Amino acid sequence: MIRRLMLAVALLIAPPAMAQQADVPVAEARSPGGIVSVALYVDGDGRPSYTVSRRGTRILDKSRLGFLFTDQRKIERDEMFVAAATREEDGRWEQPWGEWRTIRNHFRELKARFRDRGAPGRVFDVVFRLYDDGVGFRYEFPAQDALKTANIADELTEFAFAQDGIAWWKPAFLWNREEYLVNRTPLSALGTADTPVTIKLADGTHVALHEAALVDYSGMAVARTEGNTLRAALTPGPGTPKVVRQGAWHTPWRTLIIADDAPGLYMSHLMLNLNEPNKLGDMSWFKPGKFVGVWWNMIKGEWTWARGPRHGATTANVKRYIDFAAANGIANVLVEGWNIGWDGQWFGNGGDMDFAQPTEDFDADALAAYARARGVRLIGHHETGGDASNYERQFDAAFKFAADHGEMVVKTGYVTDAGQIDRLEPDGTKLREWHEGQWMANHHVRVLEAAARYKVAIDSHEPIKGTGLHRTYPNWVAREGQRGMEYNAWGGKNPPEHEANLVFTRMLEGPMDFTPGVLSLTGQDNSAILSTEAKQLALYVVLYSPVVMAADTPENYAKHMPAFQFIRDVPTDWQDTRVLNGEVGDYVTIVRKVRGGRDWYLGAVGDEEARTLTVKLDFLDPGQTYVAQIYRDGDDADYRTEKRHSIVIESRKVTAADTLTLALAPGGGQAIRFVAPKGKGR
Ligand code: NOJ
Ligand code: CA
Repeated sequence: MIRRLMLAVALLIAPPAMAQQADVPVAEARSPGGIVSVALYVDGDGRPSYTVSRRGTRILDKSRLGFLFTDQRKIERDEMFVAAATREEDGRWEQPWGEWRTIRNHFRELKARFRDRGAPGRVFDVVFRLYDDGVGFRYEFPAQDALKTANIADELTEFAFAQDGIAWWKPAFLWNREEYLVNRTPLSALGTADTPVTIKLADGTHVALHEAALVDYSGMAVARTEGNTLRAALTPGPGTPKVVRQGAWHTPWRTLIIADDAPGLYMSHLMLNLNEPNKLGDMSWFKPGKFVGVWWNMIKGEWTWARGPRHGATTANVKRYIDFAAANGIANVLVEGWNIGWDGQWFGNGGDMDFAQPTEDFDADALAAYARARGVRLIGHHETGGDASNYERQFDAAFKFAADHGEMVVKTGYVTDAGQIDRLEPDGTKLREWHEGQWMANHHVRVLEAAARYKVAIDSHEPIKGTGLHRTYPNWVAREGQRGMEYNAWGGKNPPEHEANLVFTRMLEGPMDFTPGVLSLTGQDNSAILSTEAKQLALYVVLYSPVVMAADTPENYAKHMPAFQFIRDVPTDWQDTRVLNGEVGDYVTIVRKVRGGRDWYLGAVGDEEARTLTVKLDFLDPGQTYVAQIYRDGDDADYRTEKRHSIVIESRKVTAADTLTLALAPGGGQAIRFVAPKGKGR
């Protein structure tokens, strides 16, 4: 290994004259299996650029690298290549919870050093990690006198796609943060987009452009400059610059997952691998599980978060939910609107929130005891209303209160328009921050560290994007960060294709608190949700989270008990996951094997069209007979009519040699539990 490394170093130091010829790479490297490759160039003006290829086909043409600063000349031209080295790493690590128990991390790294041609003489490295399913790269700046403080106005990193294609993306920097539907446009018509951006290139290759390990930096959106070229657009800070770093620092990883098809994007572990290992140590205190909650009736407008005659979080009401959870093997009960601060205009007045002070009609101590006696835990709720500093001042009181009341998970919220987060400096200066800016990236880490001290896990709503940091902070168990079920309570409901979009876009960021399972299929004023009943069940397999809500009310579940059985059965922690088929925004089928058991679960969802999918059951243990408990759309099921409730529940015996035909209704889906024979097999 050491000999190979030395050889690589020697080969990659190009003589300066040759290095500056535009078409001769100054450094190159390939992924371990030779599939993905990058090449670095410096043109005659001293402009560094890189290309990415897969199986010899260009994915990115020459794409520029660099930065704008607020107080010194940019890094983008008048740079020179100094030297490069490669190394290879291969290993495995275990997730404390997740979709896969063990993850392989096998990459080749290329580290290339650049220096300003003249003054101020700054040096930096561009580090590529090449995987067979994609590449991540970041800039690393050693501590240096020429750049003591980097006041970054923007990042000039480009992604010059070599072909046009179809892009799935949502707009960046608009008021509703990440909660927009997914657009589908030609890549050459993309505007300014949040990442991940998912692209099907003209030749069918699928690419997901995103970032990993967003720490002490602002989130990267991308804006199309011309043709198929996108450029980084960093989230603003409270003024200029957008990012400030001192000493030695590096950017997050800019990542491209590259696969033959949409399922290949989902199966990549590149983002997790590019994050640092678990910093929290023992996580055995966190148990993945399901929850019900005093919630859907509030979202529908029937109950209130505020005190008054329709207050949801009353002691009596919460007891009913605890009873329901206990009777159905559901581990947790979320309660919102339990604390002081919600009365009046809580939206925009997050400073009123007190996270350790229950309202007088919510007997926190009695409810904690009541829940404990029934083997149920409460999930706390900290809605900051966007006043992140008010929350930070209360961290210890808030998480101590949560732990003292047996809460293992707290749901947080940052409901305020984009760019309107309240930040209060120790000297009294008030600043406005963006949800995805550098200060909020650091805020979320501060939340995770404070919560971890009390063994509390976090499910953040209106969060910063997911970049795999749940590897480093495994108490970051879920996030919202897209339009979830709540939009189905209101007007402008999620369209039938929404979840088939999410799997190949938002879900690439990690677990989502989507809150599925509204079996009544109705929102506000009895308005219809654009889904069949079977699809609601399929979402428990399709949309991964270690904490999953059964979002409907106990009264509604009582009317749908046969279907509810699947929600009772489905686990939330997995040994293995496979995406059997899928096209972005059209359909997807996912199977998962329970962690610590032998049963498999299948979820398939479609869009507005009826569709028949054929799946091989060769993921099951060979030679064993399983009982498939099938929850499928009835033959007349249709999301557009009352027949959205048409569901067939049936059982049949299957083996690994079988093939199943899944008939999805318009707006439909299918869920299956494969029950393994007792006592045999792996
Ligand atoms: C928006 C969140 O997404 C929702 O789940 C929550 O109930 C409300 N904010 C109130 O905090
Ligand atoms: Ca939300």
